[in-house]
Amino acid sequence: MTLQGKKIVLGITGSIAAYKAAYLCRALIKKGAEVQAVITPAGKEFITPVTLSALTHKPVVGEFFTANDGTWHSHVDLGLWADLMLIAPATATSIGKMANGIADNMLVTTYLSMKAPVFVAPAMDLDMYAHPSTQANLDKLKSYGNRIIEPATGFLASALEGKGRMEEPDAIVEVIEAFFENRNQLTKKKILITAGPTYEKLDPVRYIGNYSSGKMGFALAEVCAEKGADVILVSGPVQSKVHHPRIRRIDVESADEMYETAMKHFPQMNVAILSAAVADYKPAQFSVNKLKRNDKEALTLNLVANPDIAASLGKIKRENQLLCGFALETENEFSNAEGKLKKKNLDFIVLNSLRDEGAGFQLDTNKISIIAANGEKTDFPVKSKKEVAEDIVNAVLSCQTGKVD
Ligand code: PMT
Repeated sequence: MTLQGKKIVLGITGSIAAYKAAYLCRALIKKGAEVQAVITPAGKEFITPVTLSALTHKPVVGEFFTANDGTWHSHVDLGLWADLMLIAPATATSIGKMANGIADNMLVTTYLSMKAPVFVAPAMDLDMYAHPSTQANLDKLKSYGNRIIEPATGFLASALEGKGRMEEPDAIVEVIEAFFENRNQLTKKKILITAGPTYEKLDPVRYIGNYSSGKMGFALAEVCAEKGADVILVSGPVQSKVHHPRIRRIDVESADEMYETAMKHFPQMNVAILSAAVADYKPAQFSVNKLKRNDKEALTLNLVANPDIAASLGKIKRENQLLCGFALETENEFSNAEGKLKKKNLDFIVLNSLRDEGAGFQLDTNKISIIAANGEKTDFPVKSKKEVAEDIVNAVLSCQTGKVD
């Protein structure tokens, strides 16, 4: 009974996969969950409220009012009641309405009032799923902190084959179980994460920077917050977005600003994970006016070293604090990473190499090795940055020092 006592709002929209909602209801209830079904008008064309209410032992919520007696169904109450909302199946229309706040039915109003984590299991034809508008709406949902249970690839109701089939109910239940199992692992822990690039100003219009998008660091922040930690995310200039009530984002621009912010907060932290691509050097002088072009002479820039944030934190690290760094390499990967691990007094280092396909800047994937303080190396395959973040957080949790208990 892994879901004993968990209150789940199950949203059902108008897809042929709605028939699987009956099995999903049963599977959730069998694991001990209390399920409240909320259905869209189109959902009722595919599965009847009678089936769902018989399985959940509750009236199905589908309308704002009960027509004959005017009873008001409060989406706000449902938003407060639930431990989790699961929308399965989620059609392209409902995903679009959720992404853009079009609250014209009970399911979307409930979604907009939801205080609990939201999981979305899309179901649609392969071309609809691949369409940039669907993908942009899914990206929006992800940026709101919702989790997408990716559809499977296989035979579709249209008789075509491809990605769009709603994930099987048992697999969805496993995702929900894993969520509840993992979510308290970092409760009461304070975690500092650095992310993104730094910009080192040359003049009012130019800077020295790098290609970091912040995706790796933001994924780490999300995973830590999902597991119950209070996160301070110190980010250089990026487009990435993250929304979680336990993530406090502090935007900085230069390495000096990132250093000041990290040094200020680190003493109150249990863990720091440093994924930012910090510029090692900055211009020795900032030109107040735009540097002018001189066709006759080459321009020589004088650079001076920036503070090494990781090494500085390594110096003030207490016994009960855990410090994890990254190494971005292009050659002699292992020995360079091991050198940084020792020099910066880290507990472990995450190595990623630009020579590996699927690893590094801007991609949604990464390929890492984790090198422990004793030199032990664990290699991981290419995974999404969210999954990579899970692996890193697992390493934090199992760090032999026992610092995070
Ligand atoms: O942001 P994305 O587009 O998702 O890309 C992710 C990433 C490639 C930037 C990320 O996975 C990564 O590798 N981050 C570390 C990049 C880096 O600067 O590595 P480094 O080997 O130069 O630095 C070693 C460690 O020291 C890092 O933890 C770095 O944050 C830290 N450092 C470096 C220089 C400095 N002045 N201060 C530091 O704290």
